[in-house]
Amino acid sequence: MLVLGVETSCDETGLALVRDGVLVQEELASQTDMHAVFGGVVPEIASREHQRMLPILLPKLLAKAGAALPDIDAIAVARGPGLLGALLVGLSFAKGLCLATGARLIGVNHLHAHLLAPGLEAELSYPALGLLVSGGHTHLYRMDGQLEFLLLGRTLDDAAGEAFDKVAKLLNLPYPGGRYLDELAQGVTPDMRLFPRAYIQNDNLDFSFSGLKTAVAEELARRPHLALKVMPTADSLRERGVLALTGQPEELARIAASFNWAVAETLRIKAERALEREPGLRGVVVAGGVAANSFVRQAMARLASEHNLALHLPRLSLCTDNAAMIAHAGWQALREGYCHSLDLESVPRGRAVPLDWVRQVFSESAQRSVQASV
Ligand code: KG4
Ligand code: ZN
Repeated sequence: MLVLGVETSCDETGLALVRDGVLVQEELASQTDMHAVFGGVVPEIASREHQRMLPILLPKLLAKAGAALPDIDAIAVARGPGLLGALLVGLSFAKGLCLATGARLIGVNHLHAHLLAPGLEAELSYPALGLLVSGGHTHLYRMDGQLEFLLLGRTLDDAAGEAFDKVAKLLNLPYPGGRYLDELAQGVTPDMRLFPRAYIQNDNLDFSFSGLKTAVAEELARRPHLALKVMPTADSLRERGVLALTGQPEELARIAASFNWAVAETLRIKAERALEREPGLRGVVVAGGVAANSFVRQAMARLASEHNLALHLPRLSLCTDNAAMIAHAGWQALREGYCHSLDLESVPRGRAVPLDWVRQVFSESAQRSVQASV
């Protein structure tokens, strides 16, 4: 089964082709540089860029894959949570293609797609603990299978990625600044007493990062010389590296390392608590943009090895938003016979994504081709 994935939920326009769960080709147009100067994603710019890029990316993708539109059996589209206007562009594009080609449509929960992304590289071990850490979410799930997600805990205020981005902003680094804080901290020993591991003195599986963010803001207010005088461009950061652009690299690197450590430890402690409460888990999945963070990766690798669990950490390009994960997650539902009709709705941030797909009764030959591909 050849599935086209469409991702437009935030500031990455992605298209990908996945055949029977395996990535064939993908195209990604990132808008991050356009939003950087604004300190966050500007929804109207995001929608316009998705609208501009999708028709450019599709023929490129098909040419690279040596495929044609009629080869596509189904279209999987990220239907939320995300920016409503941005999602609508992707949904309209996917529906139009379905109407034109007769392909089936499946709407994908963007959060579940992140958690299933490591399945593009290796078979996931279920039941698993799923930690989703991105710019908008910090969620802990119990995953009993590709389609079974139980939410165990979530952030009560800022997401982990949001805390990274806000601290980076205080240093006058462009949005999204998480990766620069990671880069600054490479090889540096953290001061474990500098910042609190936020919201762990309780009995729940929820997160709160606002206290940690305030602690870092207060520390930086005492050291105003650490913030960059002029915000560097993403290009200059890529070319020269963030360390070369800072005035006090050692002092700043120690603060960055301590902050990275505090976030990673907070995530690890709550994940460990979840493992104790959910006996019988066999794997740990870490996904979302913050899963690219080296401190988080190390902390979760240690946790998995201490508990003798399979660790599923996607490669860096699968951590941040991409269409391969959407096509892959869509395929998991399609092969179980699920799909959506053209009245599929997009779901903005803050609203739960409904399980409103339907099980289609296939003709015998279509059923055979689905079975042959699983
Ligand atoms: O999953 P994602 O691409 O988009 C959302 O759905 O939110 O995650 C983006 C988030 C941003 O907050 C970004 O700063 C953060 O992931 N991020 C990182 C790193 N790479 C990306 N945070 C810390 N360390 C990194 N290496
Ligand atoms: Zn995402």
